[in-house]
Amino acid sequence: MPQEVIELLKIAPGLNYIDGTTGGAGHSRMILDILGDSGHLYSFDQDEEVINRLQGHNLKNWTLVNENFSEIYNYSKESNIEINGGILLDLGLSSIQLDDPERALNFDSEYEPDMRLDRRLSLTASQVINKYQEKVLADIIYQYGEENKSRQVAKAIVGARPIRSCRQLAELIKGLFIKSAHGKTFRIHPATKTFQALRIFVNRELDVLEKVLKPDLEVLMPGSRIVVISFHSLEDRIVKNAFRALKASGHAKILTPKPLVATEEEIAINPRSRSAKLRAIEIL
Ligand SMILES: C[S@@+](CC[C@H](N)C(=O)[O-])C[C@H]1O[C@@H](n2cnc3c(N)ncnc32)[C@H](O)[C@@H]1O
Repeated sequence: MPQEVIELLKIAPGLNYIDGTTGGAGHSRMILDILGDSGHLYSFDQDEEVINRLQGHNLKNWTLVNENFSEIYNYSKESNIEINGGILLDLGLSSIQLDDPERALNFDSEYEPDMRLDRRLSLTASQVINKYQEKVLADIIYQYGEENKSRQVAKAIVGARPIRSCRQLAELIKGLFIKSAHGKTFRIHPATKTFQALRIFVNRELDVLEKVLKPDLEVLMPGSRIVVISFHSLEDRIVKNAFRALKASGHAKILTPKPLVATEEEIAINPRSRSAKLRAIEIL
């Protein structure tokens, strides 16, 4: 949906924009192309490696910021920046992060489940699965993974401690599901929801999303826009409710009464876009 993103952000030369989720910088570069050499883009990513890969560019109007997007308003205030263009959030992970065995986000990794996107965070997924009480673990898996078998999964994890690798965790959960599947095959890996839950919990993904969607209107100016692409129902619900609350308080107009979704053609090129939902508002 890159074209829709650019249209909804209504990029105009001379204004200040924030890309809260820089990743491979595909969107950042599209924004910079339209801005030319006027205006400014601040590209945030919580992952130091993402920011390091992009350092060394020589664009005067592009600043890279190794921070969580929950810090956008603090950063803007401290740096005396008015966000008069808009903010883009393309949530989730990049394929580089997902495929990195050391980051331990995928089912095949032989590394200890870490799952932090920001290495400055202190809690790792390994600590959660090896130390948390069974009931607390079950609640995390249910709340952030919407896993109906959360109690059974938590019980199996506690029984198999210590869990030393992602592969061990994935195989354990797969074994549990195979027992009750009666020969049925799985459309997605049976550990998908548990892995999602642990990643969301460790990175506090829903909390930071709620925080950034309560904008500080001293720095986010009237006419600016917030565009969010989310990838699962927990995120989309937060975006929908936050946008409705901003509308109800008279601070924003909703630009997407229904979320935009990817076309079949886009899904064929980029399967990840199948679950993408795009919503946008304009600050009044
Ligand atoms: C899907 S990728 C973004 C892809 C990017 N839009 C592009 O065009 O290449 C998501 C990126 O956002 C980062 N990210 C996710 N949540 C974040 C947060 N709360 N704060 C800062 N960065 C975040 C991840 O580290 C990852 O690099």
